[in-house]
Amino acid sequence: MAEQEIDEHSGVETTGHEWDGIKELNNPLPRWWLLVFYGTIAVSIVYWILMPSWPGITGYAKGLRNYSERDRVENEVAEFNAKRAQTMNRLLAAPSIADIEKDPDLLQYTLAAGGSIFGDNCATCHGAGGQGAPGFPNLNDDDWLWGGSFSEIEQTIRYGVRSGNPKAHVNVMQAYGKDGVFKPDQISDLVEYVVSLSGREADPAAVARAAPLFAGTCAACHGPDGKGNQSLGAPNLTDDIWLYGGDRKTIRQTLMYGRGGVMPAWADRLSEEQITALAVYVHSLGGGQ
Ligand code: HEC
Ligand code: HEC
Repeated sequence: MAEQEIDEHSGVETTGHEWDGIKELNNPLPRWWLLVFYGTIAVSIVYWILMPSWPGITGYAKGLRNYSERDRVENEVAEFNAKRAQTMNRLLAAPSIADIEKDPDLLQYTLAAGGSIFGDNCATCHGAGGQGAPGFPNLNDDDWLWGGSFSEIEQTIRYGVRSGNPKAHVNVMQAYGKDGVFKPDQISDLVEYVVSLSGREADPAAVARAAPLFAGTCAACHGPDGKGNQSLGAPNLTDDIWLYGGDRKTIRQTLMYGRGGVMPAWADRLSEEQITALAVYVHSLGGGQ
């Protein structure tokens, strides 16, 4: 190691380190740099005192401000829930759907909530926009199996249809073919009769043969003119809107084997507010009465 000395070119003291004749000058650090350096040390000490910092064995130093990111999130969630509860309570307190519809804020909130609950729970069967599918009714039209008033819709959602819930809608059309109530040619005649009900061309002789069968058996639920009965969930057969299908093959299938579609009950799975929001949403889809 070479001696410390004064460099003859720059006049600065060397550190005494030398590599292959290259010597290191002992220049002082720039003043601004040093100040920033000491500044960061000072800031970090203040931070350690105020904020959570050092880990310990069972926890960590909480700091004088006792700040916690987790508490902050929890508080925000609690605040949000409190605000939501206010709106939900207004929803539950509303005596009728008309009162909900009169309050634009509440209505907007209810429809948004109802729409998202619908997407999570109902869209699998009824389609994303409630447009339905064979066997799963369209909720956008004003053709209702069990009634389209707010309270009827709410009742259907709460207890379901043939769901096993004691308050569910239950009414089952028999498997007229399989159970041997009607012979195959009588079923064929009835198919023609049902086709004729929606104003389509059908074999007149078959329709005439089936008329007494319809009046004697089917009219009990579907009505003497086939217009259906909402208190029995019996579809209107004259409007050419079909739950299962209006072509001859599908009608035959319905008469041979019955249907008995199941709509689950939601009373135990969703809260009161959620059911109300859903009923308002379904009612708003276009066909509410
Ligand atoms: C597992 C499939 C399924 C799911 C899920 C389902 N439904 Fe249904 N829903 C049905 C079927 C099937 C019917 C028709 C029952 C019948 O034959 O009367 C029905 C009927 C209805 C009706 C009566 C329609 C009418 O014309 O009277 C309403 C209202 C309804 N569903 C709303 C909902 C809502 C809201 C949800 C979500 C909470 C939902 N459904 C979830 C299958 C389902
Ligand atoms: C006990 C009441 C009842 C009787 C009696 C009854 N139905 Fe039904 N019918 C229903 C119900 C309820 C449905 C709804 C379908 C379901 O079960 O999911 C239905 C559905 C239908 C459908 C399907 C409609 C569609 O939109 O796809 C046809 C067609 C039909 N019935 C024809 C008849 C004929 C014809 C008779 C007489 C032989 C008859 N029904 C007797 C209750 C009845």
